This record gives sequence, C-alpha cells and structure tokens, in this order.
Amino acid sequence: MAMPVFIEKEAKRPPPDAFPRVYTRSARAALRHILRARLKHDARGILLPAYVGLSPKEGSGVLDPVKEAGAPFDFYEVSERLVPDLDDLERKLATGRFQLALLIHYFGCAQVDAGDFVRRCQRHDVQVVEDCAHTLLGGLRGERLGMKGAFAIFSIHKSTWLLEGGFYYDRAGELGDTPLDERDALDRSGLEAFSRLDLVSAAQRRRRLYDLVASWVVELPGLELFFPRVPANAVPLNCPVIVAGGKREPLYFQLIERGILPTALYHTLIPELAADRYPIAHRLSRNILNLPTHPDILDGNLDEYRDALRASVQEVLRT
Ligand SMILES: Cc1ncc(COP(=O)(O)O)c(C=O)c1O
Repeated sequence: MAMPVFIEKEAKRPPPDAFPRVYTRSARAALRHILRARLKHDARGILLPAYVGLSPKEGSGVLDPVKEAGAPFDFYEVSERLVPDLDDLERKLATGRFQLALLIHYFGCAQVDAGDFVRRCQRHDVQVVEDCAHTLLGGLRGERLGMKGAFAIFSIHKSTWLLEGGFYYDRAGELGDTPLDERDALDRSGLEAFSRLDLVSAAQRRRRLYDLVASWVVELPGLELFFPRVPANAVPLNCPVIVAGGKREPLYFQLIERGILPTALYHTLIPELAADRYPIAHRLSRNILNLPTHPDILDGNLDEYRDALRASVQEVLRT
C-alpha cells in the first residue's frame, strides 16, 4: 500500500514566519491606523522612546500619528547611543497606563535585543510596535528587524526613490475588525511602482556603501561612527556619525558647499522633549550627522565623495 504523501511537489502554504503586509501611504499612516484600531478596545496610551524629531516640512513622523489618533503618550529614556533604558521602561510599564510601546530601530539597526524588549513589555500586558521606518527589509538575511513585536511599521519612501508608501505587520491579525481608512491606504499606482522595485539589490548596495563610508569615517579625526559595529545582515539607512567639538553645524554646511547633502536625524526635537528634562537626547541632537549611503550614489562619484568629506572635516575641525 502506498504511503500517504508527506513531501509535496510544490509549496502550497505560506511559510509560518511570513506576515502579510498591509500597504499604507507611509509609516506614519500605519502607526495612526494601529493606534486608532487599538484605542477602540483600550483607552491606554503608548510609550515612546525619548528621541523623536520634527521638521517644518514633514512634521513628526512619530508624534503626529500618535496625536492624530488621540493616544495618550509618554517617553522612556534612551542613552546617547539610543539604547532604551530598560529600568525606566519597566518603571513606566508598571504604571499600567500603556497598552503599547514603540521600539524604534534608529537608522535601521537594532539598539537592543528586540525579543528581550518584547518579553519585558509582555510581562506588563503591553504590546510592542517595532518601528522599522529606517530599514525597508529589516535586514538582508537571518533574523530581520520587525519580527518580534505584535506590530511593525515600515516606510517605503525613505529607502527608495518613490515618493510615498509604507506597510505594517499585524502579527496576530488583531486589527482585522478595523478597515484601513482610504486616505491611509497605498493606492494602485503606488502598489504597482513598489512591485517594480528590486529591493534586495538596492539594500545590498546601500549596505556596501555604508561599509565604504564607515571605512572613511574611522580614518577621520573629529568624527566617530554612531555604530561601532553593524551586524552583518543589517541595512542602515545612512551612515550616522558624531561630530566632535560642537562642529556639526559648520560641517553640515561645509559638506553642502562641496556638493554633498547630509541630514541630521534629528537636528530638532519635538517640544515635548524639553532640553532640561532630556539633556541626553538634546546632546545627541546637536552632534549627530547622517552621511548619505543610498543606492543612487554612483561608483564614479565615490572618490570625489571621500575627498570632499576629508577636505570638509579638515577645514571645519582644525578651526
Ligand atoms: C523613526 C521614524 N518612524 C516613522 C517615521 C514616519 O515615516 P513616514 O515618513 O513613512 O511616515 C519617521 C520619519 O518621519 C521616523 O523617523
């Protein structure tokens, strides 16, 4: 008698670790939706890390959706390298005022063991939203970011040339009873544009450029890599560095003069993070600079990029 089939010819089921993506116009639309859906069942608020920026053009990608959803919020402390202060987190979780905690993987790298963070929150009946807005794939292989929290949000436009797009995971399908508001959903043309992207090769190139730019930075006095080591599978959004001697501002403008457009995430913090109450966040905000490593950078421009960076650092840091 023939054995029952236990090895099929082809796959017929989604793999157990595949989470369906729900596409949105942006990461902030995803966060707003998650919060609105959760607030229907539970009035408790969300704990945010105490490093959140604001720009006149874009507002705050983190705080605006929280306010728009009407969610109560507070902050947990982070270190100068944006590592969550787990004691402060647990103290605040223990108040019972929160149903969600946001874990931001700043610049696309894990600052903390996400599994441990999630377990600590679960002990207090709090779910975690992993904010992966700075890393579209969450990593290239192995354990990717965004796999541990009950929810995870991603931004398409931050990591690609597209002007809009995001998505989220709802691990346990908890938001099923709340339809996505039409203005928050990614439309058909956005979905089509997204489907045409080669995300893996773009991420591989971004990572190669990160390694290259980081190798220049370690040779430059006055600059310090924000991440001393980046896991082999991570895809940082850009190359964050700390500029010594209060020279971030002049270096930023010197680079622009030489044709390089850096960013400073975040040069301005939301007013809720007052300078006297959150001095660590403000020190970082004054000294951080993010060097571009996106995949549009042409091989033919790399030597000039390196030389301009060196010349700018020499010019600004010797005075
Ligand atoms: C950490 C973080 N999360 C979320 C967002 C929002 O991303 P999006 O522009 O896709 O709404 C931003 C940027 O604004 C961000 O820096």
